[in-house]
Amino acid sequence: MDCFFSSAWTVYISQHLDNQANRLQPLCPIDGRFGPHGQDEIPLRALQFKRGLLHEFRKGNATKEQIRLHNLVQQLPKAIIIGVRKGGTRALLEMLNLHPAVVKASQEIHFFDNDENYAKGIEWYRKKMPFSYPHQITIEKSPAYFITEEVPERIYKMNSSIKLLIIVREPTTRAISDYTQVLEGKERKNKTYYKFEKLAIDPNTCEVNTKYKAVRTSIYTKHLERWLKYFPIEQFHIVDGDRLITEPLPELQLVEKFLNLPPRISQYNLYFNATRGFYCLRFNIVFNKCLAGSKGRIHPEVDTSVITKLRKFFHPFNQKFYQITGRTFNWP
Ligand code: A3P
Repeated sequence: MDCFFSSAWTVYISQHLDNQANRLQPLCPIDGRFGPHGQDEIPLRALQFKRGLLHEFRKGNATKEQIRLHNLVQQLPKAIIIGVRKGGTRALLEMLNLHPAVVKASQEIHFFDNDENYAKGIEWYRKKMPFSYPHQITIEKSPAYFITEEVPERIYKMNSSIKLLIIVREPTTRAISDYTQVLEGKERKNKTYYKFEKLAIDPNTCEVNTKYKAVRTSIYTKHLERWLKYFPIEQFHIVDGDRLITEPLPELQLVEKFLNLPPRISQYNLYFNATRGFYCLRFNIVFNKCLAGSKGRIHPEVDTSVITKLRKFFHPFNQKFYQITGRTFNWP
C-alpha cells in the first residue's frame, strides 16, 4: 500500500511537475531569506512534494533528468542534531522534517565519530545526504557526536558556523532509557545483563559509577565544555526533550526561530496518538506516521535510593549546564 502510494504520487507529480515547477515560488536562500512581512508563504503543495517526489529523491530514486530539471542537490547539513542519545533525537529530526524548508538525512551517518567513515572524506559525506531543492536545508542527526572527543574539531573544519542542536532529558531518566535500549539488544541476543542498579552504582564504594557510559553521557556539561572550545554558545540550541514528548509544538517553534526558518510547523502537523502514548506526525491529509516502536520503551523499575543518588550526583553538573546554556530545567 505504502509502495503503491509513493509511486502513484511520483507519477502524478511527474505529470504535473513541468507546469507546477514554473508556478512554484522559489524560496530565498536560507541565510538572507524570509522577509519580515509574511510575503514568503510556502504553498501547501510544497509539503505534498516533500512526501511525494522528494520522498523518492531522498531514497535516491531521482533520475538524472529529475535532478537536472529541478536543480536537485545533495547539500552538506546546515544544522546537526549532535545528541544526546535517548534525548529524543529521532523525534526531533522527524518533526523538523515536517517543515517544508527542511530535509532530513534519514540514516545516522556517523561521519565525524567513525574514523573509517571520516577517512573517506567530505565528498563521501555529502553523497550520503538526501536530494533537496537548493533553498532547503539538510539536517542530520548522529547522537554519538556529542560524546565523541574528535567530533567538535572535525565539524568545525567542515563548517565553523554550523548550527548545533542538542536535545536533553532529565539526566537520570535519560540514563535509564539508555540502559533500557542496551538491555533490549542483549535480550534479543539471549544474553544475560546486569540490573541498572548494579551498573550505575560502584559496589565497592557505593558511589555513582562514573565509568558507566550511561551515567557519563548524562553529564551534559562535561561534553558541552569540549564543544565550546570550538564553537560559541550562540551556535547551540538546547531542546527540552521531556517537553518535546508532552508538548512538542513550542519546542519546535523555538528551533524554527534558531534556524531562522519561518514558522511553518503547526498543531495540524502533530496529533496525540493515545495508543502509542506519544505525538505522531501529520504531513498532510494523506501522510501521517508515528515513530517506530523502539521509541518509547517501557523502562524497568529502578530502586528509588539509586534514583535519588543519581539525581544528587547530577545536580551540580546540571546547575553548570543551566549556567552555560542559559536554559534552566526543573530537573531535581
Ligand atoms: P524512551 O524510549 O526512553 O521513552 P532517541 O531518538 O534519541 O533514541 O530518543 C528516544 C526517546 O524519544 C524515547 O525514549 C521517547 O521517550 C522520546 N520521544 C520523544 N518524542 C517522541 C515521540 N513523538 N514518539 C516516540 N518517542 C518520542
